[in-house]
Amino acid sequence: MSIKNVRKEVMLTLEKNVDLFTKDYLIQPEKIWQPSDFLPNPQSDSFMNEVEEIREISKDLGNDFWITLVGDMITEEALPTYESWLLDLDGIEQHGENGDNGWAKWVRMWTAEENRHGDVLNKYIYLSGRVNMREVEITTQHLIADGFDIGTSRDPYKNFVYTSFQELATYISHNNVSKIAKKAGMKNLGKMCKIIAGDEMRHHKAYTEFIRQIFSIDPSEMMMAYFDMMKLKITMPAMHLRESFETKGALFEKFSEVAQRAGVYTSFDYVDIIRKLNSSWSIDKISGLTAEAEKARAYLMKLPERMERIAERIVVPDTQHNFKWMNPLV
Ligand SMILES: [Fe+2]
Ligand SMILES: [Fe+2]
Repeated sequence: MSIKNVRKEVMLTLEKNVDLFTKDYLIQPEKIWQPSDFLPNPQSDSFMNEVEEIREISKDLGNDFWITLVGDMITEEALPTYESWLLDLDGIEQHGENGDNGWAKWVRMWTAEENRHGDVLNKYIYLSGRVNMREVEITTQHLIADGFDIGTSRDPYKNFVYTSFQELATYISHNNVSKIAKKAGMKNLGKMCKIIAGDEMRHHKAYTEFIRQIFSIDPSEMMMAYFDMMKLKITMPAMHLRESFETKGALFEKFSEVAQRAGVYTSFDYVDIIRKLNSSWSIDKISGLTAEAEKARAYLMKLPERMERIAERIVVPDTQHNFKWMNPLV
C-alpha cells in the first residue's frame, strides 16, 4: 500500500473515535462563551458609557500593542482559509456516501468555535477607536483571497503536526496579549484574550492527542512527518499578510518584528513549542522505529537546544514601521 493510502487507512481507523474527541475537546454553542459575553451590550442603556470607557482606556497602549492585536485578529478572521484547507486532507471526507465523515464534522465544529475569536476581537478593536478599520478590512480580504500553502499537501500527519503547533502558538500569543492588557487596566480585553487562549489550549490538546494516537499505530511514518515539518520550519498562517496596494506577504516580516518586540510571540516561544511537542508525544520513548525514523528522532530531540542558540543571537530591530492599520482614515 502506498504511504498516502496507509495514512488514509489510519485516519479512517481513528475516525471511529471522532465522536469521543468532539465530546472531550469541543463545547456546544449553548454552553460555551460567546463574543457578547465580553462586549458592551447594545441593548443596554449603559452601552454608550461602556464604549466611551473602552475608547478612553485604549489610548494608554502604544502602536506595537495594537498592531500585534490587529494582526492576531486578522489571522483569526482568515478562518475560511484554514477550514477549506483542512477539509481537503486525505481521510477527511465531506463528499462520502453519507456526506460528512467524522473528521469533516470535527473540522466544522472546530471552525465554528474558532470563528468566535476573530468576531470578538474585531468588535473590540472597532470600538477602541485606535485603528483604521478600512485598512484592516482590506488586509483581511487580501489574506483570505491569497490563501496559504504550508507545504503539507493533503498529508493528515503533517497537517495535524501543524495544527498542534499553531494552536499552542496562538495560545501563547493571546495569553501574552491578555497579560499586557490586564497590566494596562484593560480588564475586558484581558479577560477576552484569556478565554480565547483557553480555547486554543483545548484545541492544542485535541490535535496533540490525534498525533499521539497516530504514533501508536504508525510510529515511523509519524516521526518522519514530524521531522519533515520541523526541518521546513513552521510557517505562520498569516505569512501572506499585506496592506492595501502592497504585494502578497509584504507586511509579514514587519508584523512579526512588532509581535517579537511587544513580547507577544518570540523565537523563544517557537523553541518552547517544539520542546512541549517532543514531551507531549514522548518521542524519546517511541519504539519500533525504522533506521531512518531513528535518525529523525535524534534530530528532533536536539532541535530545541539548537534553535535556542539561534534565538539567543536574534536582535529584534527597533524600526518603527508605518502601518496603514494605524493611520487615520483619510
Ligand atoms: Fe483562534
Ligand atoms: Fe486555534
